[in-house]
Amino acid sequence: MKQPAGLHELALLARRARKLAHAPFSKFKVGAALRTSTGEIVTGCNIENASYGLTICAERTAVFKAVSEGMRRFDAIAVVADSRRITPPCGPCRQILWEFCGDILVHMSNTRGRTRAMRLRDLLPLPFDQTSF
Ligand code: THU
Repeated sequence: MKQPAGLHELALLARRARKLAHAPFSKFKVGAALRTSTGEIVTGCNIENASYGLTICAERTAVFKAVSEGMRRFDAIAVVADSRRITPPCGPCRQILWEFCGDILVHMSNTRGRTRAMRLRDLLPLPFDQTSF
């Protein structure tokens, strides 16, 4: 059986996906790589548009691509940006990650080798979801 990608490899794939980002407005390119519980990997990048508000982050691109292809169980996501500090997922992405991926491992790194991994529950304490009502 194919060996599932490790976190380092996942971050490398996110880094590669980042190059495909469409970010002419912010110039801030982000890449993500989402790993399913069976080891498949789906990547994403941020895609901006002229009305700004319709921008989609790299993390949500990856989640929506995966869900649209029938994948439902995930265990880790890597996020890479070229920032001085690491780039943690924005609030809306945390909500989407929680609802589709649960308490996954979020591996954040910059292109200069700084890395931090956290559980989503620690990034989104007291989450609201379908069990809340
Ligand atoms: N962005 C992401 O893709 N992921 C994040 O975690 C933070 C922000 C994007 C959205 C926008 O295209 C650009 O970065 C600047 O906010």
